[in-house]
Amino acid sequence: MTLNDLNNEITVCQRCILCKTATRAVPGEGPDNARIMLIGEGPGFHEDQQGRPFVGAAGQFLDSLLASINIKREEVYITNMVKHRPPTNRDPLPEEISCCRPWLEKQLQMIKPKIIITLGRHSMEMFFPGKSISKIHGTSIKKEGVICLAMYHPAAALHQQSLKQAIQTDMLKVRTLLDNLEREKSVPVKATEQKQLNLF
Ligand code: URA
Repeated sequence: MTLNDLNNEITVCQRCILCKTATRAVPGEGPDNARIMLIGEGPGFHEDQQGRPFVGAAGQFLDSLLASINIKREEVYITNMVKHRPPTNRDPLPEEISCCRPWLEKQLQMIKPKIIITLGRHSMEMFFPGKSISKIHGTSIKKEGVICLAMYHPAAALHQQSLKQAIQTDMLKVRTLLDNLEREKSVPVKATEQKQLNLF
């Protein structure tokens, strides 16, 4: 199955009531081998109109945050916890999130990102259950070999100066994490392994 096949399945999903009020599904976008996957909450008005994630004001802010660490939007995979817009942009309900979760799990299995960035409370809850965003934003954990970093939602950060500074600082950590991954990749044989090789 390709990412395209998966998107086609998401497009016709009727697992919860959100598909009844949404204009169209917003599966996500980005390369199928993206190293970074960003997970937001759910499509808003503009995303629902265009079928693309993060294309409104929050999306423009997200693009500028990525640009600040020299990453192009086209290099990352962007998706949401729920793939259809909740009416009036309300928070997705727990049952809507759980109905939609298998799609996100398939996307994770197919893309296999090295770094997952959660944007806002809802995606944070999946990777950092029970935590508070004000306490853990900007911190990362490793889960099954994947680095997970929690960040504020760009829409919230856009309108609150203190959160804006926090998200800008937190994004810099992504650069450090990526640089560390690159460094690990470019070391062909670790010093300890070298020693062992010399023994034989
Ligand atoms: N907010 C989100 O959480 N996702 C989008 O795609 C757009 C705005």
